[in-house]
Amino acid sequence: MKRIFSGIQPSGIIHIGNYLGAIKQWVELQNNPPALGADSIFCIVDLHAITEPQNPKELSKNILSIAAIYLAAGIDPKKSVIFVQSSRPEHTELAWILNCNAHMGELERMTQFKDKSAKFTKTSIPVGLFDYPVLMAADILLYKTTEVPVGEDQKQHVELTRDIAERFNHKYGQTFVIPKPIIKQTSARIMGLDDPTKKMSKSASSPNNYIAMTDNADIIRNKIKKAVTDSGTEIKADIKKPAITNLLNIYSEVSGKATADLEKQYSGKTYAQFKADLAEAIIEFLKPIQKKYSQILKDENNLKQILKVGSEKVAPIAQKTLKEVKEKVGLSVL
Ligand code: AQP
Repeated sequence: MKRIFSGIQPSGIIHIGNYLGAIKQWVELQNNPPALGADSIFCIVDLHAITEPQNPKELSKNILSIAAIYLAAGIDPKKSVIFVQSSRPEHTELAWILNCNAHMGELERMTQFKDKSAKFTKTSIPVGLFDYPVLMAADILLYKTTEVPVGEDQKQHVELTRDIAERFNHKYGQTFVIPKPIIKQTSARIMGLDDPTKKMSKSASSPNNYIAMTDNADIIRNKIKKAVTDSGTEIKADIKKPAITNLLNIYSEVSGKATADLEKQYSGKTYAQFKADLAEAIIEFLKPIQKKYSQILKDENNLKQILKVGSEKVAPIAQKTLKEVKEKVGLSVL
């Protein structure tokens, strides 16, 4: 049985990097599953979001907003399950058991932890931030997931999940399925508009780093206008031109045109002309998603009902795995 599982943390508004790196593949996999009968589970991983400080009101708003984006982008609750991580206590219970089978050394090697912990003083790094990958392993392993569609930055966490699962299976007998990451090469890492050496990120210090899925036309034009470019004038994907390469990549993804064709189209044109057209291409691309998103948010009760039904649907799978794990570990005397 094939099963797809993935999630996004509601640590801000989803940006086009999250969409192109993750959600776009989710919709493709949902509509063309890798095997007959494969099912897909897409989670809003709110417990991951609180590994860094969040404003409680904003967090609640972001949870619903992300659910609405999933639906607007094409995740169909008739084909896939959408639910909120914190609605299923099995995630944290399994995470604790996995914590006891994970090693400090392997968590210390995680590049996301190294990057994100740099924002804190050494003595104030939240323990949850360090433990984030183990909770992610629990999310994935709880559903006996076979495939995890993610952006490049999450590959290391999926690899750690595999290591923890293999260690557990070795120690307690065959329990977990070993999942594999699925990474869409063309959009695996969309870079920040204000710094093409770092990935586009929801929690970036400046909103000029990203195009949010909900940004309006004027904001998009302004952000693309401000996006950094490289020296020279040529519009060409090149290792020496990381900013233009990133913009070409985004343009190619939102327009469906090949990068080589875009390079020809903009040969001899200025960065300003290229950027103006790119902004319009993004606006057009986001228009239908944004229209559906606003409609979905108008009926909050219906949205909450979809999430409730999703949580009820995954409950038996989560409970069964947790029961099996507790039995294996010797925690099921009563
Ligand atoms: N820049 C990116 N390019 C391609 N894919 C990306 N993803 C994130 N950024 C990019 C993919 O989006 C999914 C959801 O990520 P997440 O919210 O769980 O956490 P993240 O990877 O840490 O994403 P952000 O936007 O950078 O959030 P913050 O700033 O809160 O940490 C994942 O599949 C991820 O690979």
